[in-house]
Amino acid sequence: MVVNTVADKEVSADAYLKFSQFLEQQCGIVLGLNKQYLVRSRLSPLLNRFGFRRMNDLIDKAVGHTDRQLRQAVIDAMTTNETLWFRDNYPFDLLKQSLFEELSKRNRKIRIWSAACSSGQEPYSIAMAAYEYKQTNPGAFRAGLEIVATDLSADMLQRCQHAEYDTLSMVRGLSEERKKRFFEPASDGMMRVIKPIRDMVAFSQINLMDSYSSLGRFDMVFCRNVLIYFSAELKKQILQQIAAALQNDGILFLGASESISSVSEQFSMVRCSPGLYYVKKNQ
Ligand SMILES: C[S@@+](CC[C@H](N)C(=O)[O-])C[C@H]1O[C@@H](n2cnc3c(N)ncnc32)[C@H](O)[C@@H]1O
Repeated sequence: MVVNTVADKEVSADAYLKFSQFLEQQCGIVLGLNKQYLVRSRLSPLLNRFGFRRMNDLIDKAVGHTDRQLRQAVIDAMTTNETLWFRDNYPFDLLKQSLFEELSKRNRKIRIWSAACSSGQEPYSIAMAAYEYKQTNPGAFRAGLEIVATDLSADMLQRCQHAEYDTLSMVRGLSEERKKRFFEPASDGMMRVIKPIRDMVAFSQINLMDSYSSLGRFDMVFCRNVLIYFSAELKKQILQQIAAALQNDGILFLGASESISSVSEQFSMVRCSPGLYYVKKNQ
Protein backbone atom coordinates (compact mmCIF):
# COMPACT_ATOMS: atom_id res chain seq x y z
CA MET A 1 0.00 0.00 0.00
CA VAL A 2 1.29 3.47 -0.93
CA VAL A 3 1.33 5.98 1.95
CA ASN A 4 0.65 9.44 0.54
CA THR A 5 1.89 12.51 2.40
CA VAL A 6 0.12 15.86 2.33
CA ALA A 7 2.74 17.08 -0.15
CA ASP A 8 2.06 14.08 -2.44
CA LYS A 9 -1.59 15.11 -2.62
CA GLU A 10 -0.84 18.69 -3.74
CA VAL A 11 -2.18 19.69 -7.17
CA SER A 12 0.30 21.92 -9.03
CA ALA A 13 -0.95 24.94 -11.00
CA ASP A 14 0.00 23.19 -14.24
CA ALA A 15 -1.80 19.95 -13.31
CA TYR A 16 -4.88 21.95 -12.20
CA LEU A 17 -5.08 23.75 -15.54
CA LYS A 18 -4.71 20.51 -17.53
CA PHE A 19 -7.26 18.78 -15.31
CA SER A 20 -9.86 21.59 -15.55
CA GLN A 21 -9.62 21.51 -19.35
CA PHE A 22 -9.92 17.71 -19.39
CA LEU A 23 -12.99 17.74 -17.15
CA GLU A 24 -14.78 20.39 -19.20
CA GLN A 25 -13.99 18.49 -22.41
CA GLN A 26 -15.11 15.13 -21.04
CA CYS A 27 -18.30 16.03 -19.22
CA GLY A 28 -18.87 19.78 -19.44
CA ILE A 29 -18.15 20.50 -15.79
CA VAL A 30 -16.53 23.90 -15.34
CA LEU A 31 -14.33 23.96 -12.24
CA GLY A 32 -13.40 27.65 -12.33
CA LEU A 33 -10.39 29.13 -10.58
CA ASN A 34 -8.65 27.91 -7.45
CA LYS A 35 -10.60 24.74 -6.81
CA GLN A 36 -7.44 22.70 -6.19
CA TYR A 37 -8.85 21.75 -2.77
CA LEU A 38 -11.87 20.16 -4.45
CA VAL A 39 -9.74 18.14 -6.87
CA ARG A 40 -7.47 17.09 -3.99
CA SER A 41 -10.30 15.93 -1.75
CA ARG A 42 -12.31 14.16 -4.48
CA LEU A 43 -9.34 12.39 -6.09
CA SER A 44 -7.33 11.46 -2.97
CA PRO A 45 -9.14 8.12 -2.50
CA LEU A 46 -8.06 7.15 -6.03
CA LEU A 47 -4.33 7.47 -5.27
CA ASN A 48 -4.21 4.18 -3.40
CA ARG A 49 -6.78 2.44 -5.54
CA PHE A 50 -4.75 3.06 -8.69
CA GLY A 51 -1.31 2.84 -7.01
CA PHE A 52 -0.10 6.43 -7.44
CA ARG A 53 2.15 8.23 -4.97
CA ARG A 54 1.66 11.77 -6.31
CA MET A 55 -1.61 13.45 -7.30
CA ASN A 56 0.10 15.22 -10.20
CA ASP A 57 1.06 11.81 -11.68
CA LEU A 58 -2.50 10.51 -11.33
CA ILE A 59 -3.79 13.62 -13.12
CA ASP A 60 -1.17 13.23 -15.86
CA LYS A 61 -2.26 9.68 -16.50
CA ALA A 62 -6.00 10.45 -16.33
CA VAL A 63 -5.82 13.29 -18.87
CA GLY A 64 -3.57 11.18 -21.12
CA HIS A 65 -6.58 9.09 -22.28
CA THR A 66 -4.68 5.79 -22.11
CA ASP A 67 -6.37 4.36 -19.03
CA ARG A 68 -10.18 4.16 -19.47
CA GLN A 69 -10.81 2.80 -16.00
CA LEU A 70 -8.90 5.61 -14.33
CA ARG A 71 -10.61 8.20 -16.54
CA GLN A 72 -14.09 6.91 -15.61
CA ALA A 73 -13.15 6.77 -11.90
CA VAL A 74 -11.88 10.36 -12.01
CA ILE A 75 -15.08 11.57 -13.70
CA ASP A 76 -17.22 9.63 -11.20
CA ALA A 77 -15.28 11.22 -8.33
CA MET A 78 -15.65 14.75 -9.69
CA THR A 79 -19.39 14.68 -10.39
CA THR A 80 -21.75 15.88 -7.68
CA ASN A 81 -24.36 13.22 -7.07
CA GLU A 82 -26.45 14.94 -4.41
CA THR A 83 -30.08 13.89 -4.80
CA LEU A 84 -33.12 12.88 -2.77
CA TRP A 85 -36.56 11.32 -3.08
CA PHE A 86 -39.33 13.51 -4.53
CA ARG A 87 -36.88 16.40 -4.72
CA ASP A 88 -38.69 19.79 -4.55
CA ASN A 89 -42.04 17.93 -4.28
CA TYR A 90 -43.88 20.12 -6.80
CA PRO A 91 -42.92 18.20 -10.00
CA PHE A 92 -44.32 14.99 -8.52
CA ASP A 93 -47.41 16.72 -7.10
CA LEU A 94 -48.04 18.26 -10.55
CA LEU A 95 -47.68 14.86 -12.19
CA LYS A 96 -50.38 13.43 -9.97
CA GLN A 97 -52.65 16.50 -9.96
CA SER A 98 -52.75 17.22 -13.71
CA LEU A 99 -49.83 16.19 -15.91
CA PHE A 100 -50.36 12.42 -15.90
CA GLU A 101 -53.99 13.01 -16.86
CA GLU A 102 -52.92 15.28 -19.71
CA LEU A 103 -50.30 12.81 -20.91
CA SER A 104 -52.74 9.90 -20.75
CA LYS A 105 -54.99 11.73 -23.21
CA ARG A 106 -52.24 11.48 -25.84
CA ASN A 107 -53.35 7.91 -26.57
CA ARG A 108 -49.86 6.55 -27.14
CA LYS A 109 -47.14 5.08 -24.98
CA ILE A 110 -45.93 7.85 -22.65
CA ARG A 111 -42.15 8.24 -22.43
CA ILE A 112 -40.43 10.11 -19.59
CA TRP A 113 -36.66 10.71 -19.37
CA SER A 114 -34.70 11.43 -16.19
CA ALA A 115 -31.58 12.85 -17.84
CA ALA A 116 -29.05 12.94 -14.98
CA CYS A 117 -30.49 10.42 -12.59
CA SER A 118 -27.64 10.13 -10.06
CA SER A 119 -28.35 7.21 -7.69
CA GLY A 120 -31.91 6.70 -8.94
CA GLN A 121 -34.10 8.66 -6.52
CA GLU A 122 -35.52 10.87 -9.30
CA PRO A 123 -36.64 8.16 -11.78
CA TYR A 124 -37.89 5.89 -8.99
CA SER A 125 -39.87 8.82 -7.53
CA ILE A 126 -41.47 9.33 -10.96
CA ALA A 127 -42.28 5.61 -11.07
CA MET A 128 -43.78 5.69 -7.56
CA ALA A 129 -45.91 8.74 -8.45
CA ALA A 130 -47.13 6.97 -11.61
CA TYR A 131 -47.89 3.79 -9.64
CA GLU A 132 -49.93 5.79 -7.11
CA TYR A 133 -51.75 7.62 -9.91
CA LYS A 134 -52.61 4.39 -11.69
CA GLN A 135 -54.08 2.94 -8.47
CA THR A 136 -56.65 5.72 -8.35
CA ASN A 137 -56.99 6.02 -12.16
CA PRO A 138 -56.93 2.45 -13.46
CA GLY A 139 -57.51 3.60 -17.05
CA ALA A 140 -54.32 5.69 -17.12
CA PHE A 141 -51.34 4.90 -19.40
CA ARG A 142 -53.39 2.39 -21.37
CA ALA A 143 -50.81 2.39 -24.16
CA GLY A 144 -47.96 2.03 -21.67
CA LEU A 145 -45.52 4.17 -19.71
CA GLU A 146 -41.77 4.01 -20.17
CA ILE A 147 -39.32 5.74 -17.82
CA VAL A 148 -35.77 6.04 -19.14
CA ALA A 149 -33.04 7.14 -16.73
CA THR A 150 -29.50 8.04 -17.74
CA ASP A 151 -26.35 9.39 -16.16
CA LEU A 152 -22.73 9.90 -17.10
CA SER A 153 -21.46 8.00 -14.06
CA ALA A 154 -21.11 4.23 -14.36
CA ASP A 155 -20.85 4.02 -10.59
CA MET A 156 -24.20 5.82 -10.10
CA LEU A 157 -25.89 3.63 -12.72
CA GLN A 158 -24.76 0.53 -10.90
CA ARG A 159 -26.32 1.88 -7.70
CA CYS A 160 -29.53 2.66 -9.58
CA GLN A 161 -29.72 -0.92 -10.78
CA HIS A 162 -29.11 -2.36 -7.31
CA ALA A 163 -31.82 0.02 -6.05
CA GLU A 164 -30.62 -0.40 -2.45
CA TYR A 165 -30.53 2.60 -0.13
CA ASP A 166 -29.01 3.18 3.30
CA THR A 167 -30.72 4.69 6.34
CA LEU A 168 -29.50 8.19 5.53
CA SER A 169 -30.92 8.14 1.98
CA MET A 170 -34.18 6.68 3.27
CA VAL A 171 -34.90 9.67 5.52
CA ARG A 172 -34.48 12.17 2.70
CA GLY A 173 -37.85 12.90 1.11
CA LEU A 174 -39.80 9.70 1.77
CA SER A 175 -43.03 9.57 3.76
CA GLU A 176 -43.53 6.62 6.13
CA GLU A 177 -46.30 5.41 3.86
CA ARG A 178 -44.05 5.34 0.77
CA LYS A 179 -41.26 3.65 2.73
CA LYS A 180 -43.63 0.84 3.68
CA ARG A 181 -45.26 0.58 0.32
CA PHE A 182 -42.33 0.78 -2.06
CA PHE A 183 -39.36 -0.79 -0.20
CA GLU A 184 -38.37 -4.15 1.20
CA PRO A 185 -35.50 -5.00 3.57
CA ALA A 186 -32.24 -6.02 1.90
CA SER A 187 -28.94 -7.11 3.49
CA ASP A 188 -26.85 -4.96 5.89
CA GLY A 189 -29.75 -2.73 6.94
CA MET A 190 -30.29 -1.46 3.39
CA MET A 191 -33.77 -1.06 1.89
CA ARG A 192 -34.50 -2.11 -1.69
CA VAL A 193 -37.04 -0.60 -4.08
CA ILE A 194 -39.68 -3.26 -4.81
CA LYS A 195 -39.63 -5.05 -8.17
CA PRO A 196 -42.81 -3.54 -9.69
CA ILE A 197 -41.21 -0.07 -9.32
CA ARG A 198 -37.72 -1.23 -10.43
CA ASP A 199 -39.26 -2.77 -13.53
CA MET A 200 -40.76 0.55 -14.58
CA VAL A 201 -37.33 2.17 -15.14
CA ALA A 202 -34.69 1.37 -17.79
CA PHE A 203 -31.17 2.73 -17.13
CA SER A 204 -28.37 3.55 -19.55
CA GLN A 205 -25.17 5.57 -19.66
CA ILE A 206 -25.46 8.84 -21.58
CA ASN A 207 -23.17 11.86 -21.54
CA LEU A 208 -25.35 14.92 -22.10
CA MET A 209 -22.54 16.37 -24.23
CA ASP A 210 -22.94 13.54 -26.76
CA SER A 211 -25.84 12.80 -29.08
CA TYR A 212 -28.92 11.19 -27.55
CA SER A 213 -31.03 10.83 -30.65
CA SER A 214 -30.83 7.02 -30.16
CA LEU A 215 -33.09 7.37 -27.09
CA GLY A 216 -36.03 8.43 -29.27
CA ARG A 217 -38.55 11.14 -28.39
CA PHE A 218 -40.08 11.88 -25.04
CA ASP A 219 -43.28 13.37 -23.66
CA MET A 220 -41.46 14.66 -20.60
CA VAL A 221 -37.85 15.28 -19.59
CA PHE A 222 -36.45 15.84 -16.11
CA CYS A 223 -33.06 17.52 -16.48
CA ARG A 224 -32.53 18.81 -12.97
CA ASN A 225 -29.54 20.05 -11.04
CA VAL A 226 -26.95 19.22 -13.66
CA LEU A 227 -26.92 22.20 -16.07
CA ILE A 228 -25.64 24.39 -13.23
CA TYR A 229 -22.19 22.79 -13.61
CA PHE A 230 -21.88 23.68 -17.32
CA SER A 231 -20.80 26.78 -19.27
CA ALA A 232 -23.56 28.97 -20.77
CA GLU A 233 -22.63 27.75 -24.28
CA LEU A 234 -22.83 24.06 -23.36
CA LYS A 235 -26.06 24.57 -21.43
CA LYS A 236 -27.58 26.13 -24.55
CA GLN A 237 -26.44 23.22 -26.76
CA ILE A 238 -27.84 20.65 -24.32
CA LEU A 239 -31.19 22.45 -24.02
CA GLN A 240 -31.42 22.57 -27.83
CA GLN A 241 -30.78 18.82 -28.01
CA ILE A 242 -33.36 18.21 -25.29
CA ALA A 243 -35.89 20.31 -27.21
CA ALA A 244 -35.21 18.09 -30.24
CA ALA A 245 -35.75 14.99 -28.08
CA LEU A 246 -39.15 16.25 -26.88
CA GLN A 247 -42.43 15.71 -28.69
CA ASN A 248 -44.40 18.83 -29.59
CA ASP A 249 -46.05 19.97 -26.33
CA GLY A 250 -43.41 17.93 -24.49
CA ILE A 251 -42.75 19.02 -20.91
CA LEU A 252 -39.39 19.93 -19.35
CA PHE A 253 -38.60 20.15 -15.65
CA LEU A 254 -35.38 21.87 -14.61
CA GLY A 255 -33.91 22.21 -11.11
CA ALA A 256 -35.40 24.84 -8.82
CA SER A 257 -32.46 27.24 -9.42
CA GLU A 258 -32.17 26.64 -13.19
CA SER A 259 -33.76 28.39 -16.19
CA ILE A 260 -33.89 28.05 -19.98
CA SER A 261 -33.15 31.73 -20.72
CA SER A 262 -30.76 30.88 -23.58
CA VAL A 263 -33.34 28.88 -25.58
CA SER A 264 -36.51 30.62 -24.45
CA GLU A 265 -37.86 30.84 -28.02
CA GLN A 266 -38.29 27.05 -28.05
CA PHE A 267 -40.27 26.76 -24.79
CA SER A 268 -43.15 28.45 -23.01
CA MET A 269 -42.99 28.69 -19.27
CA VAL A 270 -45.92 27.46 -17.18
CA ARG A 271 -45.99 28.93 -13.69
CA CYS A 272 -47.66 26.88 -10.99
CA SER A 273 -48.06 27.46 -7.33
CA PRO A 274 -45.52 26.33 -6.27
CA GLY A 275 -42.98 25.69 -9.04
CA LEU A 276 -42.84 25.92 -12.81
CA TYR A 277 -42.18 23.84 -15.88
CA TYR A 278 -41.59 24.42 -19.60
CA VAL A 279 -43.59 23.26 -22.59
CA LYS A 280 -41.95 22.83 -25.98
CA LYS A 281 -43.56 25.12 -28.55
CA ASN A 282 -45.05 23.36 -31.57
CA GLN A 283 -42.74 23.74 -34.58
C1 LIG B 1 -26.68 16.69 -8.56
S1 LIG B 1 -27.05 15.21 -9.46
C2 LIG B 1 -28.73 15.51 -9.90
C3 LIG B 1 -29.60 14.29 -9.71
C4 LIG B 1 -31.11 14.49 -9.95
N1 LIG B 1 -31.37 14.95 -11.30
C5 LIG B 1 -31.69 15.45 -8.95
O1 LIG B 1 -32.03 16.58 -9.32
O2 LIG B 1 -31.81 15.11 -7.77
C6 LIG B 1 -26.16 15.55 -10.98
C7 LIG B 1 -25.92 14.31 -11.82
O3 LIG B 1 -25.47 14.75 -13.11
C8 LIG B 1 -24.57 13.79 -13.62
N2 LIG B 1 -23.78 14.42 -14.69
C9 LIG B 1 -22.78 15.32 -14.59
N3 LIG B 1 -22.30 15.64 -15.80
C10 LIG B 1 -23.03 14.92 -16.69
C11 LIG B 1 -23.01 14.80 -18.11
N4 LIG B 1 -22.14 15.49 -18.86
N5 LIG B 1 -23.89 13.96 -18.70
C12 LIG B 1 -24.78 13.25 -17.94
N6 LIG B 1 -24.85 13.31 -16.62
C13 LIG B 1 -23.98 14.15 -16.00
C14 LIG B 1 -23.75 13.39 -12.40
O4 LIG B 1 -23.13 12.14 -12.58
C15 LIG B 1 -24.82 13.41 -11.29
O5 LIG B 1 -25.31 12.12 -11.06
